[in-house]
Amino acid sequence: MHPKRDCYHRRSMFRWGIRVLGWAILAGLPVCAAAQLATSDHLGDPGFWPTRPAQSRTEYAGDSSCGSCHASIAASSQQTQMAHALMPASASEALQTHPNLSFQYQGDRYQIQTKDGTVSYSVSDGGHTLQAQLLWAFGVGRVGQTYLYQRSGQFFEARASYFPGLQGLGFTPGRDLGGTVRLDEAMERPVGMPEVVRCFSCHATEAMIGSTFNEANLVPGVHCEACHGPGVRHAAAMQRLLAGKTSSEKTYIFNPATLAPDDSIDFCGACHATWWDAKLSGTHGPASTRAPAYRLESSQCWIRTHDARLTCITCHDPHVPLQTNPQAYDVQCLRCHAITAAAKPTTQRPGHACPVSTSRCTTCHMPKVYVPEMHSDFTDHRIRIVKTGEPFPE
Ligand code: HEC
Ligand code: HEC
Ligand code: HEC
Ligand code: HEC
Ligand code: HEC
Ligand code: HEC
Ligand code: HEC
Repeated sequence: MHPKRDCYHRRSMFRWGIRVLGWAILAGLPVCAAAQLATSDHLGDPGFWPTRPAQSRTEYAGDSSCGSCHASIAASSQQTQMAHALMPASASEALQTHPNLSFQYQGDRYQIQTKDGTVSYSVSDGGHTLQAQLLWAFGVGRVGQTYLYQRSGQFFEARASYFPGLQGLGFTPGRDLGGTVRLDEAMERPVGMPEVVRCFSCHATEAMIGSTFNEANLVPGVHCEACHGPGVRHAAAMQRLLAGKTSSEKTYIFNPATLAPDDSIDFCGACHATWWDAKLSGTHGPASTRAPAYRLESSQCWIRTHDARLTCITCHDPHVPLQTNPQAYDVQCLRCHAITAAAKPTTQRPGHACPVSTSRCTTCHMPKVYVPEMHSDFTDHRIRIVKTGEPFPE
């Protein structure tokens, strides 16, 4: 057990202690300044954290306001996949370019047909056919796209998703059907309101106002204020500042650059899962590569350092599309690793040199792992020496 992880238990004990044992017992508990936490713990703290609802819609300024002063960040952010993580089904490029999708499972035929701005989804067992109009498309479609629709106020998730890896439909990940089921079960999974709110809070901006799901006015995709918090106050303060009316010392906006390394990773983990989110959900095997924080924080590079040189934002600029040139990542590894075998590790640069290569480090040490239910590869963020034929290292 890594010492910093004990803090989580201490913190949970702390909360439990408050509720059950009163203050007396707390005096002796150590205080924990920085630690990897579960997202629910971060959300239990005051202040902004991604996925936390705002109190009022008027707190949001909107991307166009942010872009009026941060033009280049706004322009490049628009090119990211995160900005397009959700859309109305009728706006899905994947569906428009594949207007007639179908797949067969046992006796059931699944179809998604896109025509004149409507997307209709149907399942037929030969005798009976059930049909619905798809409302929302989740995922930009790099790996897959999943659909939600509504009937009598209840949300449903289509059992069929689109996968570019198949160039067609397959079962929605984790929703594979074994055995024979009723036609409605074959078609859909009812999604309760708490889960609907979670889906939209990670895939959209302004999804929740107080405790109300803001379906009519949410902004599809992960935009500025999903990561920086509602910004109307900041925009107004900066306008006054730029007009020379104030010399404001406060910016009234959340800048994640100020977070300690553990918190910085947990920040992205608010949507990508933190180490504890993944641990508590029991994820394992190749699918755990979908939780990059879990894998990264299980690598020697992180365990030995807990260092700001190895947070998500050292390798990923959230305002630009994913870098796919492996050479571009070398500089991050070489901040900690020596280049030549002669150069011995130091406190500033604690990592050994590679005996095999001096470039394209991630191609060998962060391998792509095939995740069967996603019909696609994910990058294993557990940086390590890969041995051929080894079982997936948990
Ligand atoms: C009127 C112009 C203006 C608008 C509109 C504006 N900003 Fe800013 N923003 C600034 C200026 C100027 C600074 C630099 C302030 C400083 O360093 O004191 C800044 C700084 C920031 C920072 C860093 C703050 C810090 O404390 O380090 C973030 C993050 C940010 N803006 C995000 C946003 C977002 C998100 C929006 C839209 C909700 C937005 N800005 C809208 C002018 C603006
Ligand atoms: C509000 C939720 C949210 C937060 C916070 C968030 N992400 Fe994401 N991110 C997403 C979603 C949703 C996707 C999936 C986009 C898609 O494929 O549809 C994604 C996708 C990505 C991708 C893959 C892009 C691609 O081209 O395949 C990267 C890289 C990424 N995020 C990095 C980060 C980093 C780094 C942070 C922290 C600074 C972060 N994210 C914080 C929701 C979030
Ligand atoms: C805790 C935040 C969170 C919740 C809740 C969430 N997602 Fe995502 N989703 C993400 C992130 C982050 C990614 C990108 C990384 C990945 O692929 O795992 C993603 C990716 C996807 C993708 C694209 C496939 C892919 O891997 O790129 C689909 C489709 C998707 N989500 C659908 C859904 C649906 C439908 C729901 C609700 C039933 C949902 N998500 C709930 C965060 C979330
Ligand atoms: C996925 C999360 C995410 C989204 C979406 C996002 N940011 Fe950021 N932003 C960050 C993080 C993390 C940092 C701190 C690290 C950095 O500077 O890259 C940051 C830093 C900044 C800064 C301060 C830069 C500096 O040099 O200190 C500004 C300004 C900013 N963002 C504006 C925006 C604007 C405008 C948008 C929307 C167009 C936006 N951000 C969207 C995560 C995000
Ligand atoms: C040491 C560098 C490094 C760090 C740190 C890092 N990543 Fe990555 N990440 C990569 C590389 C390399 C890729 C693969 C890029 C490509 O496809 O060519 C990648 C890909 C991704 C993807 C796309 C899906 C996939 O699995 O290929 C997501 C999402 C992502 N990273 C999220 C994160 C998050 C969240 C963190 C923090 C927990 C993080 N990354 C930390 C290097 C890093
Ligand atoms: C924050 C500093 C830091 C960064 C950044 C970093 N490492 Fe490390 N890494 C270490 C330390 C410390 C060790 C343990 C000492 C050693 O084996 O050199 C280590 C160990 C390793 C190991 C041996 C792992 C094992 O299980 O035996 C490999 C391989 C490795 N790093 C590759 C990389 C690659 C590739 C990158 C960039 C993608 C990277 N490291 C980024 C600090 C870092
Ligand atoms: C072509 C694949 C490949 C590339 C590219 C590569 N490595 Fe390696 N690396 C290996 C292999 C294989 C080993 C194990 C060698 C052994 O055990 O004899 C290794 C070992 C290591 C070790 C452990 C060294 C030790 O003494 O314990 C580190 C650290 C490391 N690599 C870092 C890096 C860094 C940093 C880069 C980029 C500058 C990099 N590697 C590029 C294949 C590669």
